[in-house]
Amino acid sequence: MEQLKNRLLDELSNASTVDEVEALRVSYLGKKGFITDLMKNLKDLSGEEKKTYGQKVNVLKTEADQKITQRIEELKKLRIEKMIEDTEQYDVTLPVGLDQGSYHPITLVQREVEEIFASMGFTVEDYDEVVDDYRCFEALNIPKHHPARDMQDTYYLDNGQLLKTHTSAAQNAIMKKYGAPLRAIFPGRCFRNESTDACHENTFFQMEGMMIDENISISNLIYFMKVMLSEVFKQDVNVRLRPGFFPFVEPGFELDISCTICGGKGCPSCKNSGWLELCPCGMIHPNVLKEGGIDTDKYTGFAFGLGLTRLVMMRYGVKDIRDLNSGSLKALSQFENE
Ligand code: DAH
Repeated sequence: MEQLKNRLLDELSNASTVDEVEALRVSYLGKKGFITDLMKNLKDLSGEEKKTYGQKVNVLKTEADQKITQRIEELKKLRIEKMIEDTEQYDVTLPVGLDQGSYHPITLVQREVEEIFASMGFTVEDYDEVVDDYRCFEALNIPKHHPARDMQDTYYLDNGQLLKTHTSAAQNAIMKKYGAPLRAIFPGRCFRNESTDACHENTFFQMEGMMIDENISISNLIYFMKVMLSEVFKQDVNVRLRPGFFPFVEPGFELDISCTICGGKGCPSCKNSGWLELCPCGMIHPNVLKEGGIDTDKYTGFAFGLGLTRLVMMRYGVKDIRDLNSGSLKALSQFENE
């Protein structure tokens, strides 16, 4: 017993972590521990011997338990002292050398456009990235097997759902949520199975807008787009509409703005035309309104699908769309203070 005790004391003083001490507790006092094992000898002893032997083992047990607990407390105290000592080696008044984070340019432009529309009475809506075929196509007057589906290479999921190919996928839900009259914009990430190059990405951002009310006409559409884009580009821009086909609008348009680089005179950025193609739009097709539960005898509306990623590229002169998804902090942080 004396030997066992001395060995334990020795091992305790060599242990340098709480875990090591806990392991010693198991090997001495655990079910099959050295001290616990001593009790096995009881059966070979006579009555009186049993008593004294048993008492001795119990004293040893208590003592061992105390020494172990004591050592644990000691080590904990030492650890705290070491931590304090370590922190004292730092000068907490020194400036931090880490780079500060910055907003992504898409976030910056998105927030700016949101603010402009909010000031014109539009609500800003959030919408899912995974949607069903109905939301993305059928509710938008694009039935199954309609050739317009070929315009958008879709990522389908195993469960039959898909990654939304355009923010228009939220139109139906938002009409059902609010009814008419309605003014809403809904920015979002869109996905298309395209091969990427400087102008194409399989992941990009759009900002969809809808305005539904009595007597809404193309002039309202032109007015809102002109005001909004002049604010975004911080200069007076002219807009023009060309016919464009989208099944969910009738008539549908491609909206161009006067080139923000040359002011419309003609330069390489606008291929000398003086115009930049920016935003498809149109008067919401009656089928789409009806599908959203809107009374088409009373209400009409316009919708647009602003290419937010494209807007960011024009605004900051980003030449390669892939830079925006690159995660390169060096490339992305430079826009923060523009
Ligand atoms: N969703 C269309 C696309 O991504 C863009 C679009 C066109 C949206 C016309 C509209 C619109 O709201 O009126 O190809």
